[in-house]
Amino acid sequence: MPSGNIDYPKPGETTRVDKTEILNTEATLHDGGVLVKVIALSIDPYLRSRMHDPNTPFESYLWYNMDAEQAAQLRVIKNDEKLPWSTYLGVLGMPGQTAYIGWKQYSQAKKGETVFVTSAAGAVGSFVVQLAKAQGLTVIASAGSDDKVEFVQDIGADVGLENGIDIYWDNVGSEMVDAALQAMNNFGRIICCGAIASYNTPNRYGIKNMHQVVEKRLTFNGFIMNDLAKDYLPDFYKTYPRMVASGKIKHREQLYYGFDGAEQALADIQKGENIAKPVVMILDEEGSKASLPNGGTTGITSRDGTLSANES
Ligand SMILES: NC(=O)c1ccc[n+]([C@@H]2O[C@H](COP(=O)([O-])OP(=O)(O)OC[C@H]3O[C@@H](n4cnc5c(N)ncnc54)[C@H](OP(=O)(O)O)[C@@H]3O)[C@@H](O)[C@H]2O)c1
Repeated sequence: MPSGNIDYPKPGETTRVDKTEILNTEATLHDGGVLVKVIALSIDPYLRSRMHDPNTPFESYLWYNMDAEQAAQLRVIKNDEKLPWSTYLGVLGMPGQTAYIGWKQYSQAKKGETVFVTSAAGAVGSFVVQLAKAQGLTVIASAGSDDKVEFVQDIGADVGLENGIDIYWDNVGSEMVDAALQAMNNFGRIICCGAIASYNTPNRYGIKNMHQVVEKRLTFNGFIMNDLAKDYLPDFYKTYPRMVASGKIKHREQLYYGFDGAEQALADIQKGENIAKPVVMILDEEGSKASLPNGGTTGITSRDGTLSANES
């Protein structure tokens, strides 16, 4: 975690749930538009970048009235496997797709190589770990708590670095990049996926080991998954819902209930206090207000790949 000038979201102070705007669901739709009912919301690290202007709210309405252009970007998910919808925000949603796309496009992975993955218990990192293991790589991983390390080992990460790193999957940026540069093998590939260590502080870390890029003939690739999604998503949707449903791809989710839970989830993911992929549950599958099995509305539930809900 960074020290010094840190600016994490503070529930009730720097974030606020605004319930003043009521959308009239009886009102006429935009021409060619659709009215979307929100069941679950994804909380992701990048949302921090949208929190600089206090006058710009997130678009998180219980109902959302879209115009034709926005509606054209919607995708119908069949969910033949009958997975919980929250799954399509994490392992089968944007984060899982990010792992798949970045790995396929940039890793040039070969059996027997070694990859280092940071924030490896997160939605992106844990998918990368499993893709790499499936291809016969040694996986070295870092995560911020004993519980996260246990999960990362459970999905196949190895212990101990013997022969240097061939691929570095960077989810955090800053000092970790310097450490990885030091440990890279010649002709290694660095995949820059995220830089969460700098999302909450204006004090940006300056990389010191850039000379290693030349000496070791390394390749850096940064990417934004949206740019490549259309080429990869058909295969992704064909392959991974089945693998998640059968437990071949493991994942964990942390469910926060109701809009008030969103504030806590936004703070937790930035501080590393989330246990797993945070999802805010608004409605249940029948369209009623989502709640914990004990009837509560603001608790946290974690799931592993077995999809059994445990209250905490
Ligand atoms: N390029 C793209 O298109 C794209 C798309 C999606 C996501 N991303 C990026 O991919 C990365 C992973 O995303 P995710 O959704 O799976 O979230 P995630 O890894 O679960 O992100 C939250 C985790 O980051 C770690 N973290 C927080 N502050 C940190 C710090 N100062 N230093 C080191 N680690 C810190 C914490 O894990 P630990 O407790 O283990 O430290 C925290 O639980 C993020 O950087 C995200 O911005 C990029």
